[in-house]
Amino acid sequence: MAMPAPVVTVDGPSGSGKGTLARLIAQRLGWRLLDSGALYRIVAAVALARRIDTANGGDLAAMAQQLTIEFRDEAVLVDGEDLSRRIREEAVGEAASVVAALPEVRAAVLRLQTDMRQLPGLVADGRDMGTVVFPDAPVKIYLDAGLEARAERRYKQLIDKGLPANLPALLASLRDRDERDKGRVVSPLKPAPDAFIIDSTSLSIDRVLELALDRVRAVGLMGDTNINQP
Ligand code: C5P
Repeated sequence: MAMPAPVVTVDGPSGSGKGTLARLIAQRLGWRLLDSGALYRIVAAVALARRIDTANGGDLAAMAQQLTIEFRDEAVLVDGEDLSRRIREEAVGEAASVVAALPEVRAAVLRLQTDMRQLPGLVADGRDMGTVVFPDAPVKIYLDAGLEARAERRYKQLIDKGLPANLPALLASLRDRDERDKGRVVSPLKPAPDAFIIDSTSLSIDRVLELALDRVRAVGLMGDTNINQP
């Protein structure tokens, strides 16, 4: 049997910087990128738009299976409609963490994720990439950071994108999301037993990237030619 394409997983709580880290690793390796949170955000955004009950796992899964999702550079097209900005709104992030707790929704999203595992390799970020979706990944990173540092980063990201943001509300929302993501029965957020844990609270993104790439190099997934690329 052919060897499956290699995967680097990056899991962690909201706002830990895992999306940025995963994008930089993918660029450095020239691999595909899976932003699994975007899939849950898409399910939530479409459910809100179509007024589908976000507690009804069966209806949400049936809806999710019918969607045509395309990732084009930074843009996300859903049934041809550009939802890139909409899915980044806080209300959608909140609803995403609610629908993500439903087993039917997770099952519907699973296939979309594993389909993206293609050569030369995949960098996948989310909550359960290393524990459930790609348990055989040769490199698993768990990126953590303190709640306040994460809230401040998320605030800055939203402001930079020209979206509305409120720091106390973000803190409360991140705390709720942490509780939901860690406390749910299916695929709770937790480091895989073989994950390399990085606490980014007081580390620059450059340092975090360096630590992550050291791991990738240590398992022989990175040729020397890539090491000094920007
Ligand atoms: O990472 P992001 O904040 O975009 O994810 C949105 C929500 O989707 C998270 O709060 C989490 O509840 C859910 N999620 C998940 N499993 C993943 C990725 C995201 O449950 N692999």
